[in-house]
Amino acid sequence: MQQYRVAMIPGDGIGTEVLPAARAVLDRVAAHHGFALVYDDLDWSCERYRATGAMMPEDGLDRIRHHDAILLGAVGYPGVPDHVSLWGLLIPIRRAFRQYVNLRPITVLEGVPSPVSRARPGEVDFVVVRENSEGEYSEIGGRINRGFPEETAVQETVFTRVGVERILDYAFDLAARRGGRLTSATKSNGIVHTMPFWDQLVAERAADHPGVTWDQEHIDALAAKIVLDPARFDVIVGSNLFGDILSDLAAAVAGSIGIAPSANLDPTGAHPSMFEPVHGSAPDIAGQGVANPLGAIWSAAMMLDHLGRPEAGAQVMAAVRELLATSGVRTRDLGGDAGTGDFTDELLKLLP
Ligand code: NAD
Ligand code: IPM
Ligand code: MN
Repeated sequence: MQQYRVAMIPGDGIGTEVLPAARAVLDRVAAHHGFALVYDDLDWSCERYRATGAMMPEDGLDRIRHHDAILLGAVGYPGVPDHVSLWGLLIPIRRAFRQYVNLRPITVLEGVPSPVSRARPGEVDFVVVRENSEGEYSEIGGRINRGFPEETAVQETVFTRVGVERILDYAFDLAARRGGRLTSATKSNGIVHTMPFWDQLVAERAADHPGVTWDQEHIDALAAKIVLDPARFDVIVGSNLFGDILSDLAAAVAGSIGIAPSANLDPTGAHPSMFEPVHGSAPDIAGQGVANPLGAIWSAAMMLDHLGRPEAGAQVMAAVRELLATSGVRTRDLGGDAGTGDFTDELLKLLP
């Protein structure tokens, strides 16, 4: 029987509640399709930091370097500063494993109420392609000059030609396989000096992708258009920070940040890719058993596609669609009263 080695990192807060749900679903479909997922359970988290002084072991990255994939819940919790937890776990994984593509699909599912009346199922289906390794999330110059009356905080934004070109090529190729439309999220009115460079590279790379219609939208106006007319989009490509913000906005348009999945991909296959819900550890609801596990379950389905088991991934998503379309089972974020476990149990009933 074929086996896949998966590093399991529930992390913090509701990460520890939604990942077991995803695992139960994974195990069910793996058994049905005749393959096995072998998990490496890792306690890398803020709790570990408080006990040992480190989010993960010193050789942590080496321990998972040869795994087939990584499934992560969420990182960050009150009591440990975010810059410590995130630079100690989440960001090193994305960077060391060259996961330069962050794929964040947005689909309005039948039966999921959207706060936006124009966001109708079957019409809204787009993907945010977020640059995941550089841009505004650089380590260069990050400092706060304290101790002066005029305190300053400084950090450089870094766009490299190779870094921008590879994410643009990924986004153009994805658009070519989908609806043939690409929107570049930018801020090119000359105020942010790095953005004209990004725009120039979009125009250059477009020449190699003649089948794709493309345009660029200022990030502020684009945010409004995603709310006002989400059906018009196919693939949206943006920098690290812009893609981060747009993906939470778009997740809310699709009903809740609790349902949004993501894949951090190294498209070369040289390193393991990582799958995680878009949401964080949600300290405000952690420990109550009310978190929506769908973002994690959907991310697990994306992992199955990535592992070369698309039939299993499709089965998960078919069951999700069926549950939402034919039942009233909803977690609190979607206006229901089902707990994390209730939702998962009902979903498992629809799987073989
Ligand atoms: P968050 O996503 O954790 O929560 C934002 C809001 O959405 C909260 O009201 C929360 O209750 C709600 N929410 C989120 N996921 C939900 C779910 N599955 N079901 C129902 N409701 C859900 O964002 P935040 O509050 O800005 O961040 C909290 C912590 O998580 C911080 O430490 C932050 O740095 C971290 N974080 C980590 C990741 C990650 O690991 N990739 C992502 C985002 C935030
Ligand atoms: C996300 C999160 C992270 C990011 C934070 C927690 C560093 O918001 O995965 O979307 O900005 O990448
Ligand atoms: Mn985010």
